[in-house]
Amino acid sequence: MIRKCLFPVAGYGTRFLPATKSMPKEMLPVVNKPLVQYGVEEAMEAGMTNCAFVTGRGKRAIADHFDISYELEHQIAGSNKESLLTSIRDVIDRGTFTMVRQREMLGLGHAILTGESLIGPEAFGVVLSDDLCLNEEGPGVLAQMAELYRQFRCSIVAVQEVPESEIHKYGVIAGEAMKDGLYRVDRMVEKPDAADAPSNLAIIGRYILTPDIFDILRETPPGANGEVQITDALQAQARAGCVMAYRFKGQRFDCGSIPGFVEATNHVYHHVYGRD
Ligand code: UTP
Repeated sequence: MIRKCLFPVAGYGTRFLPATKSMPKEMLPVVNKPLVQYGVEEAMEAGMTNCAFVTGRGKRAIADHFDISYELEHQIAGSNKESLLTSIRDVIDRGTFTMVRQREMLGLGHAILTGESLIGPEAFGVVLSDDLCLNEEGPGVLAQMAELYRQFRCSIVAVQEVPESEIHKYGVIAGEAMKDGLYRVDRMVEKPDAADAPSNLAIIGRYILTPDIFDILRETPPGANGEVQITDALQAQARAGCVMAYRFKGQRFDCGSIPGFVEATNHVYHHVYGRD
């Protein structure tokens, strides 16, 4: 059973400036719930109630969101507004929330390594909450991956087919198909040109990682953009042992980009809240 989930939330969110000048991008609401709460709810559904955040300067609102707001709760107690806090109260009651700061933004791989002190020697989930994943037909994406981890006991990355014109934005896998939607990874390339991409299967922001990834990350030199890339560490892990890629069931919205964020907002408003 995987108990812990890491949320790297230290990035600057420059694509959303000026909104993210003094507010974390992970607190942007899709309709009335911040992105990071969708991610935490997905992790908890998968049994990962121990939530570890890798934060940075200017991210205090995230810590406050997962704590009681005494004055506010007192103010609306007994009014018809109280029910609006039910979902976050439930999350707070079920989980524990720990934070560590990434002092320099040296990349996602570095952010994950910074989380080591909160995770320790056990397998863990990783959620990039700017990827909003929804599965209205069944279990959430992380729950689907946790189930696979029980069978395979190795690192698993979530992948999605993307059009050729988008492939240069992602880490891309090459691998052998094992069964429908499941691949054993041979190779991974971070942000390839379309012509060099080994497939159209792009890694999105959900991972299950085994703890040997920390030693590998410590030895991983900065790659694309001078950042320590998790893709490079996963490539080393695949070479030494096994990494699986999983084409998940459900939908994913790239809420780190403005079009994806707008699409997610429309989707949630219509399908989740049932509004026209
Ligand atoms: P992004 O590539 O989306 O970067 O990071 P960003 O800074 O958040 O956003 P833009 O591109 O400037 O608009 C992917 C994820 O990795 C985290 C981010 O918080 C985001 O969840 N991250 C990235 C870190 O925690 N630390 C880093 O050094 C880099």
